[in-house]
Amino acid sequence: MEKFIVKGRTPLSGRVKISGSKNSAVALLPAAVMTSETVCLENLPDITDVRTMIEILENLGVSIRRRGRDVLELTPGNLSKIAPSYELVKKMRASYYFMGSLLARFGQAEVPIPGGCDLGPRPIDQHLKGFTALGAAINIEHGMIKLSAKKLTGARIYLDVVSIGATVNMMLAAAAAEGRTVLENVAKEPEIVDLANFLNAMGASVKGAGTDVIRIDGTKSFKGAMHAVIPDRIEAGTFMMAAAATGGQVTVEDVIPKHLEAITAKIREIGGKVEVDPEKITVKWVSPLVPSDLKTFPYPGFPTDLQPPGMVLLTAAKGLSVITENVFDGRYNHVDELKRMGARIKVEGRTALIDGGAPLTGAPVAATDLRSGAALIIAALTADGESQISAVEHIDRGYDSFEQKLTGLGASIYRKNDESYDQQSGKVD
Ligand code: EPZ
Repeated sequence: MEKFIVKGRTPLSGRVKISGSKNSAVALLPAAVMTSETVCLENLPDITDVRTMIEILENLGVSIRRRGRDVLELTPGNLSKIAPSYELVKKMRASYYFMGSLLARFGQAEVPIPGGCDLGPRPIDQHLKGFTALGAAINIEHGMIKLSAKKLTGARIYLDVVSIGATVNMMLAAAAAEGRTVLENVAKEPEIVDLANFLNAMGASVKGAGTDVIRIDGTKSFKGAMHAVIPDRIEAGTFMMAAAATGGQVTVEDVIPKHLEAITAKIREIGGKVEVDPEKITVKWVSPLVPSDLKTFPYPGFPTDLQPPGMVLLTAAKGLSVITENVFDGRYNHVDELKRMGARIKVEGRTALIDGGAPLTGAPVAATDLRSGAALIIAALTADGESQISAVEHIDRGYDSFEQKLTGLGASIYRKNDESYDQQSGKVD
């Protein structure tokens, strides 16, 4: 295990290039197995989740050639298996996308039931409802989800919950179903649009991605394609809020400002100055920051993945702010860790009350998921003194070269082994 050592009271300043989107990459990589031809994906982030996906694909029999730091060529050819490796799949939830892509290619898939994680319960009932509607038979036994379909047939599916994962899985399976599928009440995130563009480049017919209704006319077979992953709006938003929280000025480059409108609006409301250019955004701290309310919603609302960094920003605004987490039950594991640094926060159900303004003090804290880990680093950068953030493997899952990018912005942060980390309890001694 490793930890980050961070020295506080460091305003971040400078420019940072944003990497490709983790949440797009982990959907595009499983989608590649829908064709036997060669696929080329560019602007892939170099993160643990992508490396795990690559291991799963190679284990399935996909031949993969790296064509540069962020470019991969994949030839699924004749896959040898329909069941991704159990050990690898257990490492990351998004591997359940192989249910949709293997079902589309082979009419069969076997994937372990995905684990929960520190965001609260994460059911997959909508995924299973959709697969059943498309004609798949589902058997859950020995911790595995076994899907099979002699033929997938287009259907009208109304998602009870706006779910990114369920929308992705339905798009993958419906792309190969016979006839038309109409998906309603779907997620509208940019990553959904990115997947639709990739599927269409492979010969699919997906229309309406980015709206509430997606229409898919099934395709018999798919061809190879090239595709560049969209920029990571969550990484960009993390740096934008870090700039305002640390009292600095940061330009995030290679972004799509449209994807960041909710974050730009919220930072302006809290008092930061935000300049928007066609492919970059500059955030400048302006004193004093203003306490505000922050509510998370599916896109285009404020993203739940930026709620933890948003909370740190609000601890720097003097007065009472209110956060309402509307997407996940219990996405407040970072609160106890922030309280170790002196943050004054009270959680009641989905609501967190932040009494901001008092400076934080450095302390030993632990990341519980990648976004809370990023938030703790931002808090450590604003705090008096030194902090240690353990369990950084969470952060490595979704932030490409995070400490290098922060160092480039003037942060004092370095990684070291964490002898004190107790493997059993998963907590810092
Ligand atoms: C995706 O997770 C993201 N992961 C998450 O990002 C993100 O937090 C989440 O969407 C919400 O935006 C990836 O894209 C790989 P959901 P996902 O299905 O698809 C409920 C990160 O930090 N639900 O949109 O698992 C669910 O419980 C990660 O990058 C059902 O009830 O989320 C939740 O309350 C963390 N039944 C809500 O929907 C289902 O069948 C939204 O979940 C599916 C979901």
